[in-house]
Amino acid sequence: MRGLLSSADLTRDAALGLFALAAELKQRSKAGQRAAPLAGKTFALIFEKPSLRTRVTFEVGLIQLGGGAVYLSGQEIGLGTRESVPDVARNLSRWVDGIAARVHLHATVEGLARHATVPVINALSDFEHPCQALADFFTLWERGLDLTRLRLAWVGDGNNVCHSVLLLGALLGTTTVVACPPGYEPDPRVVEAARGLGGRCEISADARAAATGADVLYTDVWTSMGQEAERERRLEAFSRYQINETLLGFARPSALVMHCLPAHRGEEVTDGVLDGPQSLVLDQAENRLHAQKAVILQLLGGALDDV
Ligand code: CP
Ligand code: NVA
Repeated sequence: MRGLLSSADLTRDAALGLFALAAELKQRSKAGQRAAPLAGKTFALIFEKPSLRTRVTFEVGLIQLGGGAVYLSGQEIGLGTRESVPDVARNLSRWVDGIAARVHLHATVEGLARHATVPVINALSDFEHPCQALADFFTLWERGLDLTRLRLAWVGDGNNVCHSVLLLGALLGTTTVVACPPGYEPDPRVVEAARGLGGRCEISADARAAATGADVLYTDVWTSMGQEAERERRLEAFSRYQINETLLGFARPSALVMHCLPAHRGEEVTDGVLDGPQSLVLDQAENRLHAQKAVILQLLGGALDDV
């Protein structure tokens, strides 16, 4: 693994290896063990969009591993305006050991990776959110669930998070059923790529059919960052795609509910479901930390023995 721009940069074995490493890091962290395998190592964190979870988990993760991070807002460095993407990548590569970037355009994080000589991690683009998907499947894996027998229903927008979940689900053998309004399906190239990885993926417009018999119901906001001007149109288009108590009733009784957060409560998900006993959302959020620590440690070649 040279970086992580897409879930498809992983293999099944690489993902399972990261889960095992994340589980070990989580256990050691909870046991209060503190070591510094990445002492003196640094990451640049570029954010063109807001963040709570991603920024905190990258910064805290690096501190816990003995390293550190420099936060750079897109506005401050003028990525692609004040300075070209290749020049930013080349300069940062002389100072830091890795770059994580949250960008509007996926091409920007690809450009950073092409011109950097240090590993680049996609911290969310308009096309993918691989760190999220990794933490999500780690959350299911650590519960001892057999990922190859799981039916995950994605209900809502076929967006960046959906793409990364589809691709990682395909690698791990999970069946993914996406239910979304016409016009908001995942990119057909992603669906094709997921199927090319051996994934069982279905796309439908019927939320109830997708939820029926599902082990996991997953949703995300209907209006992603940068799409605020489309909010009214989207609220109308997605009105029948809410994960609520009725839809949850179609899933298996043991079904789990996932959301990458932040949630727009009362839109894509009700309070009762989000805060209910079947919700995994805070475990997902917590696991962003442990999963990303595993990715960083792997990319920077740190040894677990030092942790
Ligand atoms: N899920 C996630 O990436 O959250 P943030 O946008 O707060 O980083
Ligand atoms: N789809 C959302 C995910 C936020 C973590 C967005 O891009 O805004």
